[in-house]
Amino acid sequence: MIKFDFNTYVKDFISEDQIKKYQMITPQIKEYLNTNDMAGWYHLDKLFNKEILNDINQTATYIRDNCDVFLVLGIGGSYLGAASGIEALNQYYYNNSMSPQIYFVGHNLSSDYYHDLINNIKEKSIIINVISKSGSTLETKLAYQLIMDLMRSKYSEQELKKRVIVTTDEETGALRTEVNEQGYKSFVLPRNIGGRYSVFTPVGLLPMAVSKIDIEKLYIGSKEANDNLETQIKYAVIRKLLYDQGKLVEAYVVYEPKLYSFTEWLKQLYGESLGKKDQGILPISFINSRDLHSLGQFIQQGNKILFETVINIKKSNHDIKIDQYDKSLNDINNIASKATSIAHFNGNVLNNIIDVDALNEETLGYLFQFFMTSCAISGYLEDVNPFDQEGVEEYKRIMRELLVNNMN
Ligand code: PA5
Repeated sequence: MIKFDFNTYVKDFISEDQIKKYQMITPQIKEYLNTNDMAGWYHLDKLFNKEILNDINQTATYIRDNCDVFLVLGIGGSYLGAASGIEALNQYYYNNSMSPQIYFVGHNLSSDYYHDLINNIKEKSIIINVISKSGSTLETKLAYQLIMDLMRSKYSEQELKKRVIVTTDEETGALRTEVNEQGYKSFVLPRNIGGRYSVFTPVGLLPMAVSKIDIEKLYIGSKEANDNLETQIKYAVIRKLLYDQGKLVEAYVVYEPKLYSFTEWLKQLYGESLGKKDQGILPISFINSRDLHSLGQFIQQGNKILFETVINIKKSNHDIKIDQYDKSLNDINNIASKATSIAHFNGNVLNNIIDVDALNEETLGYLFQFFMTSCAISGYLEDVNPFDQEGVEEYKRIMRELLVNNMN
């Protein structure tokens, strides 16, 4: 269902011998994934256990039956996985035709955004899921405060208990205290899983289940990825070898715009996990064929700092025939991808190709797990910790100082 081609548009630049040298450390990589304190996401059987799945599916049904608007409050790893899944596996313009409408909020500090959001939803029946592992992230905290002001103006304390769902650490943090004091329904983000690796915990699974995604099928795909670890190792090794050759940027390229949020998830995963010690590949994304008409020129003939990892969806859900070419629109999209890879390779821009036969729960589950695992392996190969993000704290520290000292 997924084919990886790390050869056609890479050959001549990387030899099989170079790859084999790294493959010899497969046992150490397995040991690392199996024993690292923050690799809870790798142990899929613990995440997809019956009890958790039942709780998520029952809660999702309850949410669907009891609101018009479902708000997911969170930022970074606390929303990008769910947003990618919902966007990739549902029809376009989801909120125009599905109930409940699902909005991801808490990822910005825009006054206009919250003003307009609240005006838009204030007459509707609302359930919220606030997601924060730490419980202290400013954007999520402020969103929670603003939305709870609205919720309290609409609902009694008793009713709020049916409309506020919290996903956070099992024991610590302000949100856990809130759950203990108010009696809100809650889910746990396990201690040994960081936000950007949390898509297969209730952080990602509950919002996806609300949109009727079959979360058990995500498990089937992710498990298959775990069973094919050598592909993840190969991809991580190729990234390392290209970095050693001076490739400083990796572009994640898609031709299916439904994968837009997935590319955002990828950028966070690779950027926050590996950009450390003054090193690392900068992850960017292209949504083609749109971006061929903006950045395509740079890629073809500009500075050769980048390589591409292209995710193609071979079959669409709904075919549209284009008579003058005697082809479907999706065929034409696939031809655009192939033509671009050939052209870019001719211009010495290397392409890793991932051909997904169709976009569904199983293939997306595979892709999530494939990229999380190879990202962790990249951290191992590059000798950085792929599970922390100390650099993000610096702006927060300065911001706290500015806020406390009343400086604008
Ligand atoms: O991947 C990460 O750890 C981060 O992106 C977090 O998910 C993000 O900063 C939000 O943190 P929290 O869930 O504690 O609010």
